[in-house]
Amino acid sequence: MRNLLSMEHLTNDEIMLILERAAGFEAGEISNLPRSYNVANLFFEPSTRTKTSFEMAERKIGCTVIPFDAGFSSALKGETMYDTVKTLEMIGMDAVVIRAKEDEYYNELLEGINVAVINAGDGAGQHPSQSLLDLYTIYKEFGSFEGLNVTIVGDISHSRVAKSNATSLKKLGVNVRFLCPPEWAGNFEAHHSWDELLEDSDVVMLLRIQHERHVINKSFSKESYHEQYGLTFEREARMKEGAIIMHPAPVNRDVEIVSELVECERSRIFDQVRNGVFVRMAILETILKER
Ligand code: CP
Repeated sequence: MRNLLSMEHLTNDEIMLILERAAGFEAGEISNLPRSYNVANLFFEPSTRTKTSFEMAERKIGCTVIPFDAGFSSALKGETMYDTVKTLEMIGMDAVVIRAKEDEYYNELLEGINVAVINAGDGAGQHPSQSLLDLYTIYKEFGSFEGLNVTIVGDISHSRVAKSNATSLKKLGVNVRFLCPPEWAGNFEAHHSWDELLEDSDVVMLLRIQHERHVINKSFSKESYHEQYGLTFEREARMKEGAIIMHPAPVNRDVEIVSELVECERSRIFDQVRNGVFVRMAILETILKER
């Protein structure tokens, strides 16, 4: 694997190798990379988890993390993504981790760029490292994927997490269902009520409402969204034994989920964050050892 751009590019075998390596890192294994690689994290959209998690993972596998402040870079003077990445390659980077607001920004990097590119989120396109850490979280819980019911709830059309997970979970044999207001379904066939979804879900995966990608919708009400689609105490109580709650975060508390349920027994929301470091170590090692 030379880059990580979209879950559409990964085979099930490649996914499982990353999950097994993440499990090894979680069990205390150390990286077998032959040298310290230079990595820069280019975040042109805000991030708390993904950026910090990648930086932690890079340090844990012995990389040298070269600071890059997207908000104070020559991208603000109009430099293209290609020229930015080519410049970092010439300075000596082995890999760049990029988050950008344009869908598939990475297409302009496929020709002429030799540094490895890891997509940390492209607009409303893909978020493959989040998908891999979600898969790892599910795998740790259930030990396999085949036949599980996963219900993805919320802002589907704007969510790169929904798209990456729909791709990867279906490939792995999961029965994926979508629940959202009709106007947020995008190209997905979605349910618009919890009926018939709650009691047999093994995983309820909630999504953040991405107000920053919405055209202003004055009729949107947090209260009415919560009432129709939010995970309330009453709905949580109807979930089956052993079922878990996930959310990529950041969470809009009391909108997608009642605040008190964020750390309830079923919730794996903060475990996902912890798992992300091991998964990103595995992603980085897999890619860097090919160089
Ligand atoms: N889940 C996720 O991508 O979070 P950040 O935006 O904080 O990186």
